[in-house]
Amino acid sequence: MNAVDIIIKKRDGEELTNDEIAFFIRGYTQGDIPDYQAAAWAMAILCKGMTDVETAALTRAMAQSGEMLSLEEVVNGIKVNQAVDKHSTGGVGDKTTLIVQPIVTSCGLAVAKMSGRGLGYSGGTIDKLESIPGMRLNLTKDEFLQQYLTYHTVLSGQSADLAPADGKMYALRDVTGTVPAMPLIASSIMSKKLAVGTHAILLDVKVGCGAFMENLEDATKLAKLMVAIGKNNGRFVKAELSDMNQPLGFAVGNILEVKEAVALLRGEPAAPDLREHCIESSAILLMMGQKADTKEQARIMVEDALNSGKAFESLKQLVSLQKGDISYLDNLEKFPKAPVIRVVSAPKTGWLSEINARIIGETSVDLGAGRIKKTDSIDHRVGIIVHHKVGDRITQGEPLFTIHAHSDDSCYNAEKKLSSAVQYSDTPCERLPQFYGLIE
Ligand code: URA
Repeated sequence: MNAVDIIIKKRDGEELTNDEIAFFIRGYTQGDIPDYQAAAWAMAILCKGMTDVETAALTRAMAQSGEMLSLEEVVNGIKVNQAVDKHSTGGVGDKTTLIVQPIVTSCGLAVAKMSGRGLGYSGGTIDKLESIPGMRLNLTKDEFLQQYLTYHTVLSGQSADLAPADGKMYALRDVTGTVPAMPLIASSIMSKKLAVGTHAILLDVKVGCGAFMENLEDATKLAKLMVAIGKNNGRFVKAELSDMNQPLGFAVGNILEVKEAVALLRGEPAAPDLREHCIESSAILLMMGQKADTKEQARIMVEDALNSGKAFESLKQLVSLQKGDISYLDNLEKFPKAPVIRVVSAPKTGWLSEINARIIGETSVDLGAGRIKKTDSIDHRVGIIVHHKVGDRITQGEPLFTIHAHSDDSCYNAEKKLSSAVQYSDTPCERLPQFYGLIE
């Protein structure tokens, strides 16, 4: 067996065996198979797809590339695994983990979460949280487990001993145009969930021009695939299908998104779509974790966690457990600002019929919030504030975007690109739906 034969077999559209998939993942994780061969393989998978059996094998191989945790603990004399998690397939302005994890932990759920960095034009929770000085997000297996068992809240990226294959594949896909392959997304997400050992998982499958699945049919297929992988491995999994045609909330870019999430948790005025998304997802998780019997009850618990400040305290606890400086959360002004901040005004009056999430995500990567090469470092300060939502009426001269850039040139280029992200209508247009359904 060798890597070239496996690449060729997939290139020619044949089905790979479990052994071939395990061989490739093992070889890549151990450094015997180089990046260029893994990139060719990922591209072959993107072009030719994988059967559900192959995807399940890939998920298993990636989960088993490091250690597999058991989160079982003894509660009232009974051995249980009560860990829950929420994971998004990736979107623009999607800072929901920063809000949902503290909400549900403050309501008594235990969360053990492994997240990723930015992927293509979508942002990543790890990059966002790294905006907080000191924050450690590369926990070892022992640190992860210890923090979970002691405090019931932990969040880390892939590490040398937890899902290392996903860590490598993820970084490679980010810069080789191989992100939107259904088998690669499903195995990336579910391998992390299987490795960590979470019992109840809510998947947030994004659909729209700013998502990796652009239509509802593909998003539903991906959701069903991941739910099936989870169930076949003994997990309790649901998948919500949510809109990603426009950015979620107002902020896109790492520090800007952390600030938006913190402001929401502190009860300050927030983008209604972001608030609703977080409340609904938290409520589903509370029901999955048996903290509430009905959605109404769950939503009241969530509102209370937000209004009482309990959820914000829970974020501060998570950040301080992982050595982040919480004074930044208490005083958002401490975060560094981009050197160039420019407001872009609406060129005309009308109703906003489109605010293209993909163009905004790509612009934010161009500004430096994401990576073009694996070795790129990102600029946490840069990004875009989108002041409006589809369906809003806007008057010429009103602020439409605020660009946060590292230089005048990059700000100018961003402004040019963003002008194609917005469409206007002379007549009122409907707001976009937030959710399209729940797969169980
Ligand atoms: N999130 C992941 O962890 N992996 C993907 O491929 C997409 C989103």
